[in-house]
Amino acid sequence: MRDLAHRFGTPLYVYDLQTLRQALHACAAALGAAGLAHYAGKAYLAPWLLREIDAAGLGLDVCSATELEVALQAGFPARRIRLHGNNKPLAGLERAVRAGIAAIVVDSLPELDMIAAVASQRGTPARILLRLNPGIEAHTHRYLQTGTLDSKFGLPIEGGDARRTVEAALARPQCFHLLGYHAHIGTQILDLEPYRLLVRRLLSFSQEMERATGYWPSAISPGGGLGITYTDEVPPTPTAWLKTLRQELDTIPAARRPTLEVEPGRAVIGPAGVALYRVGTIKAVTSGRTYVSVDGGMADNIRPALYQAQYAALAATRMHEETDRTATIAGPYCESGDILVQDANLPEMQPGDLIALPSAGAYCLPMSSNYNGALRPAVVTV
Ligand code: LLP
Repeated sequence: MRDLAHRFGTPLYVYDLQTLRQALHACAAALGAAGLAHYAGKAYLAPWLLREIDAAGLGLDVCSATELEVALQAGFPARRIRLHGNNKPLAGLERAVRAGIAAIVVDSLPELDMIAAVASQRGTPARILLRLNPGIEAHTHRYLQTGTLDSKFGLPIEGGDARRTVEAALARPQCFHLLGYHAHIGTQILDLEPYRLLVRRLLSFSQEMERATGYWPSAISPGGGLGITYTDEVPPTPTAWLKTLRQELDTIPAARRPTLEVEPGRAVIGPAGVALYRVGTIKAVTSGRTYVSVDGGMADNIRPALYQAQYAALAATRMHEETDRTATIAGPYCESGDILVQDANLPEMQPGDLIALPSAGAYCLPMSSNYNGALRPAVVTV
């Protein structure tokens, strides 16, 4: 770590390829031929990572026209990409159809009409999934829930939007090839119960729609959202998560069982990344708190400020010393909320020491900014 910090500067994001490959392998192995995992690129996207995802045989979820372009430019196979978003630009839909991606995940009825126009112009039906809002509350931070009825995402099952959209898609077979149903209920979820409910909900909706229209989905996608350990959380393993989803789907006879498609982001890339910071000013304030200021913070990791996200902090240059002090790790940005870790247990720190934040691989760099003129940190793979 010392060498890497010296060579590449700090803050520095270090990704461990072995940890990443184990996670990719676990997903692929747990799904086997009966399913497909699409890595959710919003968690972190880079050409080197796309090569790893591709080599492991996973698909890719992109949630904007720019992410789509990055993936296509990097040579990721279009037939394994699906496009998400609640307000997709027309140019993005055109690009998706032209490139022949696996599916566009439709989020609203107006979007369906936009895709119909694009598909008619090309003279081929567009492959689509419908993103449903199942009305399920996952136990996670309020900002991280997406499956409740108040959410901006998806077509609510309750109230009939989902049903009307299925009917609208089936009415225009020249424009749409409807692959199935999708839902995503949130992120950093540590409990499998909402996932059981979700698959049951998607299947009961499928049955209801089959009775009404005769249509039966060939794919069911309960999204992503599996949590990881930041401090002392004990999340289910990706294998346990996938087994639970499988079990629910296995209630359907094999001959007509839809394929299971999942979209893990954080669980794949989160544990593989570590952020490294260098200690600068150390200050004890009148309240009794000691601030250890480091050279990165909310510009490279906004998660503590935005979601009260908790991280563990390790004194990377003093790993053998006793952690008998409590200090708050602050960033250098002009904002009181620029705190990486409140009340971290550390040894006595000195300016120049390194602090490592594990589990920093997901949603840090993609949400980073140039606030106060901050530069994006370097990324190194080991
Ligand atoms: N699929 C869909 C449709 C999603 O919206 C997301 C995440 C995922 C899959 C991947 O979820 P994951 O497996 O990574 O939990 N900025 C927040 C996370 C936002 C997640 C947005 N959607 C954070 O820093 O915690």
